[in-house]
Amino acid sequence: MLVFGGTGDLALHKLLPALYYLHRDGRLHADMRIIALARSKHSSADYKSLAERHCRAKIGKSDFDPQCWQGFSDRLDYFTMDASQRTDFARLAQYLGSTEKRVRVYYLATAPDLFEAIAAHLKTAGLADPYSRIVLEKPIGHSLQSAQAINASLGSVFDESQVFRIDHYLGKETVQNLMALRFANMLFEPIWRAAHIDHVQISVCETLGVENRGNYYEQAGAVRDMVQNHLLQLLCLVAMEPPVRFDAESVRNEKVKVLEALRPITDQDVRDKTVRGQYTAGQIAGQPVPAYYFEKNVDNDSDTETFVAIQAQVENWRWAGVPFYLRTGKRLAEKTSEILIQFKPVPHALFAEGDANQLLIRLQPEERISLHLMAKNPGKGMKLEPVALDLNLATAFKQQRRWDAYERLLLDVIDGDSTLFMRRDEVEAAWRWVDPIIKGWQQHYQRPRPYPAGSSGPEQLQHLLERHGRKWMQSPGST
Ligand code: BG6
Repeated sequence: MLVFGGTGDLALHKLLPALYYLHRDGRLHADMRIIALARSKHSSADYKSLAERHCRAKIGKSDFDPQCWQGFSDRLDYFTMDASQRTDFARLAQYLGSTEKRVRVYYLATAPDLFEAIAAHLKTAGLADPYSRIVLEKPIGHSLQSAQAINASLGSVFDESQVFRIDHYLGKETVQNLMALRFANMLFEPIWRAAHIDHVQISVCETLGVENRGNYYEQAGAVRDMVQNHLLQLLCLVAMEPPVRFDAESVRNEKVKVLEALRPITDQDVRDKTVRGQYTAGQIAGQPVPAYYFEKNVDNDSDTETFVAIQAQVENWRWAGVPFYLRTGKRLAEKTSEILIQFKPVPHALFAEGDANQLLIRLQPEERISLHLMAKNPGKGMKLEPVALDLNLATAFKQQRRWDAYERLLLDVIDGDSTLFMRRDEVEAAWRWVDPIIKGWQQHYQRPRPYPAGSSGPEQLQHLLERHGRKWMQSPGST
């Protein structure tokens, strides 16, 4: 596995720790080598200590085994190169030696503007063969047009089956459990449709700010960073039809159909159906944090959104008239990722307390699925209260440790299974829906609404649902 951007945050904080765990659990082939590639001039030994420092910090004392690390670091190597320079790829080819019948995974943990050059240079240097796989991190481009250009360049070098576009949300256990819940249980299928579902909420809330990623984030904003990929992927898994088989093509065919069925949000609709926000100074876990425009590498007049909420609509038979409310933001009160399926009320109310009728799928912080039902409070009289049938996936399976999404996805790449990766047309369909929203914001110059760090988002967020007589689910602890 060759990791371009080997000294970057993604490689050091996510990929290497995930590979360490896979090594520790005996899941990597004995011959597998991991070569980090970047411009900084490190010796292999320097790089190994850099990697060890980061992995120790990430993995924690109890899981970090120095002896095991030794074995892992024997797999590691470092090669100094500039990925934008064609000649450096000739040096790389020489360093790697013969490519004969060896699976090579090229992991592009770099900015997307390097994707096209890297693919082209790999080809020229003779490093792209039928055994190669290339892994791309989101965002794939910053618009439909740029994504198409990247996909076309990759397509001229690699077959689609060799391209793995990562969306790490698809590697999360509960996200996959959503498919198990829907397609391995008969219970929900008959009511999983407009006749019985009032609306769906998909929330991905973070307490983190932009950290050291100001440069990237200023170009992306929440809609490109989170909605175009993670939130739309979650929406697809909720809304898709049962695939014919659980294989890469069948699953992805169904997801594309959902993306294509999204009603475009253009022009005037942008005002009514979206809310943009940007955090101002506030407190997270009792600690003061600065406003977004005071973060490193952020313009102090920035109008990049750090929060977005959208009312989406899937226009097909199953979902006609059912709104999908999406929201995501940084520096919110709590880190949670949840999907709420709100079923319709009973047709005739017998009891004063109303009804719960909710299915909550929690991806983070803990993985659980709970069905909220009304039950009678013990004692005299029919006093009802909502109670939850609660499936905690960690305790149900007595897991020792939760796999990180990257562990699962890296193994899938190694095994050549692309079910949990985004296909070319899927990425493009997602941009096709997102582009007009961004354009609408620009046309109507919709500046992001301020919200204090540590809150639940801008005030206007409530109106999106309240005007339809609905409410956002409240995460415990949110204000
Ligand atoms: C990444 C985004 O894809 O996902 C980050 O670029 C975000 O901005 C992260 O913080 C959230 O991932 P998770 O797994 O922590 O919910």
